[in-house]
Amino acid sequence: MDSFGRTISYLRLSITDRCNLRCWYCKPEGSPASLAHADILTYEELHRLTRIAVNLGIRKVRVTGGEPLVRRGAAAFLSELAQIQGLEDVSLTTNGVLLKQHLEQIQESGIHRINISLDTLKQEKYHRITGTDAFNDVREAIELARRMRFHPIKINMVVIKGFNDDEVADMALLARSYPYYVRFIEYMPVGRNQADTIIYTVPISTIRNRIEAGIGKLMPVPRGINDGPAERYRFEGGAGEIGFIGSMSNHFCDSCNRLRLTANGYLRPCLLSNTQQDIKGPMRDGATDAELEGIFLKTVHQKPSQHVFSLGTEAVIWDQMSAIGG
Ligand code: GTP
Ligand code: 5AD
Ligand code: SF4
Repeated sequence: MDSFGRTISYLRLSITDRCNLRCWYCKPEGSPASLAHADILTYEELHRLTRIAVNLGIRKVRVTGGEPLVRRGAAAFLSELAQIQGLEDVSLTTNGVLLKQHLEQIQESGIHRINISLDTLKQEKYHRITGTDAFNDVREAIELARRMRFHPIKINMVVIKGFNDDEVADMALLARSYPYYVRFIEYMPVGRNQADTIIYTVPISTIRNRIEAGIGKLMPVPRGINDGPAERYRFEGGAGEIGFIGSMSNHFCDSCNRLRLTANGYLRPCLLSNTQQDIKGPMRDGATDAELEGIFLKTVHQKPSQHVFSLGTEAVIWDQMSAIGG
């Protein structure tokens, strides 16, 4: 439990900062070069730290990146994680580009929850936002995952004013016809100037109004115990769900239950604060499990009540999303 009474049960593991896309909201131009291989945690180290975290009360682990599937052996690592005693839930956040060829192995390891990023339904726009032509690979992966009965498949759309906000109703329709959970995410100015928020962030209240005006009324879905930041809704008779992630306009810090481990071995108490604790250094210097537990507890103790943007400071998060793990 942290100093504000929040129970910390969810760990996000960034297993690489590398990515096969260049989404502009995540990797701004001039982003630092990728980490050297020796600087990222090995799978053995990630496994050891996860076991220690589970011992301390972590029950849910989400594997992120960068793009986790660009790291060799990622699917096998997911299977190993899924076998850790006491860990109730292992899931993956991916851009979907390499997903098709890994779905079978992921399914065999018992993992059924996948979050996939897709910011547009138009191939040309996809190219503009990601710098690649992988649109069809992602669409096919989403469809194949559905046919293989992964559930829930969450589709993450970062909504950007003047760029893809005209597509929110079309995206929402996917959740009426299919069992997808389509989530609309407010753009966060990570690694950028805060003023970007005014230019690019569309508040979730606006997105919701547009969807209701275009398609029909949304009904709230009660929160589950393991729920993340999304406010959940569905259309009457809809096959899937709609989620709104309002990190900027309606932050959910009061109910935050998470810690992050960055690819280069720092424990981070909050996505949007600059505090972090080196855990790789002590581990490579021979720290015992008990000493590493101490670093986890110290990080939990440092968890701020809210993120810097909601506190209205001028602060800037200078790390890149791809290094922190989204
Ligand atoms: P589940 O609830 O397990 O499905 O995970 P999630 O929705 O938290 O994970 P996902 O990786 O799909 O992230 C969706 C969006 O939520 C991304 O834009 C993340 O950056 C954002 N997000 C995730 N965790 C946090 C957090 O602790 N704080 C803030 N402000 N945003 C977060
Ligand atoms: N603001 C909001 N969401 C972001 N993501 C990456 N960068 C940002 C940002 N600046 C999202 C990705 C992915 C998730 C892990 O984080 O689209 O779906
Ligand atoms: Fe890669 Fe995800 Fe960042 Fe896009 S948002 S560049 S897919 S890490």
